[in-house]
Amino acid sequence: MDKFVIRGGNPLVGTIRVSGAKNSALPCMAAAILTEEEVTLENIPQVRDIETERKLLASMGAVVGQREGSARDRMTISCRSLSDPVARYEIVKTMRASSLVLGPLIARAGVARVAMPGGCAIGGRPIDLHIKGLEKMGANITQQHGYLEARAERLQGAHLVFDKITVTGTEDLLMAAVLAEGETLMENCAREPEVTDLAALLTAMGARIEGAGTAVIRVKGVSSLHGATYRINPDRIEAGTFLIAGAITRGDLTVANCDPSHLGAVLNKLKEAGARVESVGSDAVRVQAPERLRAADISTEEYPGFPTDMQAQYMALATQAEGTSQVRENIFENRFMHVQELVRMGANIKVDGSTATVRGPSPLSAAAVMCSDLRASASLVLAALVADGESILDRVYHMDRGYERIEEKLQSVGAQIQRMGDIFPPVNMRRATDNSPVAPTA
Ligand code: EPZ
Repeated sequence: MDKFVIRGGNPLVGTIRVSGAKNSALPCMAAAILTEEEVTLENIPQVRDIETERKLLASMGAVVGQREGSARDRMTISCRSLSDPVARYEIVKTMRASSLVLGPLIARAGVARVAMPGGCAIGGRPIDLHIKGLEKMGANITQQHGYLEARAERLQGAHLVFDKITVTGTEDLLMAAVLAEGETLMENCAREPEVTDLAALLTAMGARIEGAGTAVIRVKGVSSLHGATYRINPDRIEAGTFLIAGAITRGDLTVANCDPSHLGAVLNKLKEAGARVESVGSDAVRVQAPERLRAADISTEEYPGFPTDMQAQYMALATQAEGTSQVRENIFENRFMHVQELVRMGANIKVDGSTATVRGPSPLSAAAVMCSDLRASASLVLAALVADGESILDRVYHMDRGYERIEEKLQSVGAQIQRMGDIFPPVNMRRATDNSPVAPTA
């Protein structure tokens, strides 16, 4: 298993480019199921989760082409013949977002067999709200042998009100509604930019959608959709991660190819912490940080609030700020897996339920640490960039799920980071504190 070796102490200076949004690409790839025609997606990030979904679509009979070289961010998907509308557990267990094929499969093929995703390192991750909405649209769904078996002659438009705000739940049901008979009114929807991205692709394919990006979405079902070419948004979480990298290393970093309008809560929090943040044109943000960062509290909320996917990264910054920062995680029940590893590097963090209290600044010392999930891994990279000495991060495959060539991008702005194969004999005993599942999912 690959590791990162990171020597801390270098300020990051220069310009770093953001890739396309993994959490837009995943639903947009699933949307190709809704048409027999070819769908071309641009700005697709080269990360493991995308490869996982490519395999999933191919296993169902889709033809998924990805260019090489400079056009490698272009993907063409043809679902002309979906010979096997089954999402098998072997794939689903490595990426719970596979449940995004459920709605499109029922809408297109009238039948779907999708493995239940199960939990992951950050929480139980149920999909009960996806199921409840599909049943209200007329799908007959049973659960057996760890699989959801779903059937529907043709889904019917319905009035759906989500009990909780769910990003992929909103996306799954939006994709079900675009081919349903009649109108669907969806309330208490997720407002994340990834939902808006998906709705823009579906509209380009001929869907009739109003209100995407707000809590109320109206869909007028159509009988069929056609192919389209669509460029997905830049990854706002990757952009936020790099902005914190610039701040924690006291650098002067410009994050390019991003959308500042998707980063409001993160930019505001960086300014509150004392960093100088300015937009550079319409697709870049520059961050400069003072020697003395100030403590500032965060509470994760659905978009446009402070994103849960930035909580771990912000916590690393908070260890370097003067004062006490309260970090409250409201979305997932177990998203503090990074805390123990940060404490092993010298951070002063106490967890009480869903709140972590971070006291700083704490000088961090390099250590051998273990990645447990995608964003916890990012937190450990950020801490290692400012720690004294050389840290070794194990299980960086978690990182590779959602960050494209991050070591090359960080090296280009001065970070001392290397990817290593197994530099020690594999350690058979798992650390007592490491209760992350063997099969990573998130
Ligand atoms: C999406 O996950 C993202 N993944 C996550 O990003 C992100 O953390 C999350 O939204 C929140 O923003 C993708 O888009 C592929 P939810 P999702 O449904 O849709 C509960 C990353 O790091 N819930 O919005 O699975 C759920 O347990 C990943 O890139 C139900 O109870 O999250 C959670 O407490 C991690 N029943 C809350 O809602 C359901 O049917 C929000 O979850 C669905 C969700």
